[in-house]
Amino acid sequence: MKKILVLGACGQIGSELVVELRKRYGNNNVIASDLCEDADEKIAGEGPFYKADVTDVQRIAEIVRENKIDTIYNLAAILSAVAEQKPHAAWNVGINGLYNVLEIAREQNCSVFFPSSIGAFGPTTPPDSTPQDTIQRPQTMYGVTKVTGELLSDYYHKRFGVDTRGVRFPGIISNVTLPGGGTTDYAVEIYYEAVKSNAYTSPLKKGTFLDMMYMPDAIKAAIELMEADSSKLKHRNCFNVTAMSIDPEAIASSIRKFSPDFELNYDPEEVKQEIADSWPNSLDDSAAREEWGWKPDFKLDDMTEDMLKAVKKKYEKNLI
Ligand code: NAD
Ligand code: SER
Repeated sequence: MKKILVLGACGQIGSELVVELRKRYGNNNVIASDLCEDADEKIAGEGPFYKADVTDVQRIAEIVRENKIDTIYNLAAILSAVAEQKPHAAWNVGINGLYNVLEIAREQNCSVFFPSSIGAFGPTTPPDSTPQDTIQRPQTMYGVTKVTGELLSDYYHKRFGVDTRGVRFPGIISNVTLPGGGTTDYAVEIYYEAVKSNAYTSPLKKGTFLDMMYMPDAIKAAIELMEADSSKLKHRNCFNVTAMSIDPEAIASSIRKFSPDFELNYDPEEVKQEIADSWPNSLDDSAAREEWGWKPDFKLDDMTEDMLKAVKKKYEKNLI
């Protein structure tokens, strides 16, 4: 039986990944950890939880040793828009944190999942059907940490034989935990505002196409990659994965299928627009499809229907 540690467990992805991993491997075999003070019942009540800072190598090493961990999902990070306000903190958590995790994994023989991002690309990357292996010259601190993380993870595999694996996630859309300050957060906010006021003002311009994915597919990607046959993986650490390439207008059109009067306006935010313009319009994820059978389940309208239902329920139960 696996013993798994999820770092960054209170975040948008961690809060749902922990629940799914506990379903599969048992509550006590999935240890959640985060800096956050207010871990909810599902994370801190239904299985082990440790408040810990990923930059504190001794503390993380102790948690791994005490719990005989063999697999670490390292989700602790500072997302793109916030990282531009706090570049030093973004480097510290994103890279010094990852370095700690990789060192612990080397010493204690663990596998490591590290999510990179569409943010690992930059303005000189081919923007359409962005290939798996291509130019990566990002101009954000977030992107710099992701490219460095990809390389560091490759190095630990090649040099020390650590079983490192990872994907380049697109923007993730979900309804359990709000996103943590990224450029793609608008694609979540638009659904909450659709339910609340049937109108939304987008911080990204019409025609700003970015890759996106619904959370159940993101969780599936992370777990399936970690369970894939190692001998079939040629890329290991930074598989492009995507489910849809959409702009604000495409989401609004999809919402209008369920709520015909939905109104979309635009008021672009300079920093977010600049970041989004430097990222690809659409990724080519054929390497993930070929090497470990990646295939998303949700298309835009399926996701919209599910998001609107889930968010409506939250408002009805006064959960937001
Ligand atoms: P998030 O911001 O929602 O969550 C990150 C979590 O890390 C938070 O709970 C935070 O408290 C925790 N954290 C921050 N600093 C820490 C520290 N020093 N020690 C321990 N915990 C710390 O982020 P997310 O959306 O869940 O993203 C998880 C990972 O996936 C990140 O690496 C992110 O870059 C990557 N990713 C996310 C998306 C997305 O759209 N959500 C897209 C691409 C890649
Ligand atoms: N959703 C993330 C962000 O916008 C992409 O990595 O920062």
